[in-house]
Amino acid sequence: MKNAAIMGYGTIGSGVAEILEENKDAIARAAGEEIRLKYVLDLREFPGSPVEDKLIHDFKVIEQDRDVELVVETMGGLNPAYPFVKACLLAGKHVVTSNKALVAAHGSELLAIAKEKQVNFFFEASVGGGIPIIRTLYECLMGEEIQEITGILNGTTNFILTKMDKEAWAFDKALKEAQRLGYAERNPEADVEGHDTCRKIAILTSMTVGKEVNYEEIYTEGITRITDTDFQYAEKLGMSIKLTGTSRIRTDGMVSAYVLPLMISRDHPLYSVNDVFNGILVKGNMLGTSMYYGSGAGKLPTASAVVADMIHGAKNAGRNVKLGWSAEKQAVAPMGVNAFRYFIRMAGQPEECLAKLMVFGPREVVSIGKLNEFAIISKEMPEADFKEAVSGLEGIRSVIRVEL
Ligand code: HSE
Repeated sequence: MKNAAIMGYGTIGSGVAEILEENKDAIARAAGEEIRLKYVLDLREFPGSPVEDKLIHDFKVIEQDRDVELVVETMGGLNPAYPFVKACLLAGKHVVTSNKALVAAHGSELLAIAKEKQVNFFFEASVGGGIPIIRTLYECLMGEEIQEITGILNGTTNFILTKMDKEAWAFDKALKEAQRLGYAERNPEADVEGHDTCRKIAILTSMTVGKEVNYEEIYTEGITRITDTDFQYAEKLGMSIKLTGTSRIRTDGMVSAYVLPLMISRDHPLYSVNDVFNGILVKGNMLGTSMYYGSGAGKLPTASAVVADMIHGAKNAGRNVKLGWSAEKQAVAPMGVNAFRYFIRMAGQPEECLAKLMVFGPREVVSIGKLNEFAIISKEMPEADFKEAVSGLEGIRSVIRVEL
């Protein structure tokens, strides 16, 4: 039997406790032995809850209990998650986390400690909720040179954009519903400003290159500037708008990595990834493109990934599974070198602006019948050239990068 502890009895932590109980037999079969929940660490009391008798408030109880071999961190944030996780690894316990902020900020160090102590630091649930994308990268695709990853990696923003697109919901209404359903971060700014996606694409990029990617170097743009009018143009064009994170291996030794709203056509594999679902496209040099799809947020899907990692830990007692990245730094290319086509929506009449728009090359002019407003889709241009071309242009109402 393996004893486990959960640190943080919030949405995900309580989901883990629920699955450990509900799927007890299947988990024991998979792990080869029972996984018993011994402690739940939280500052709060949960009278009447199924874990009432396991609740503790002092982290040292877990750290010092040699019988606890598996520790789950579902507190979120960096403090005290980081010192607690580090202490558990140093104490020779496997740690499983769903905390992307922790993995993106301290992954290299925690992976190194796990290796030194011959335990494991697993973080499947930190990216893509219940989608097994981390294990796919280090096990299933281990013979591939990964060339590119593009994903819808945030359930909350995908839910919001889907509601705005398909049901004409206002942004605030959709965000409130995502919060009610337990998808959103404690501070939803992390979702809507793209920071959550940024950390997730940083983790996937680090997995791919085997080096540390500083998430602060990843260009990040959220969805707060996307309006219902943009969606009306997208519909006219047979397109949709999704928040995506991309990383691409370059030939100059750098990686291109960015997070931004992308206008994609109906033919794009990510077009049908709606609501809270995430979709991740992985391009390998031999396999070509593959796509991974599933619930990207929410209590049980995310907790399911945590439980799978716990089983993986139980099955690898005394052995560090090779995964992750080293502390060596991976250079991220400046945003200016990345090329896109652009949807540019502006005030005025196209005929009056034609001369000024020449710089955007062969283009499509789009109108949705709105008075004194139109949009174009530019030719593909490096971001730096585009920024220069639009700098003198007046009347721009919105700019969204396009993948046709
Ligand atoms: N807030 C995150 C999301 C939770 O909406 O995707 C899962 O990481």
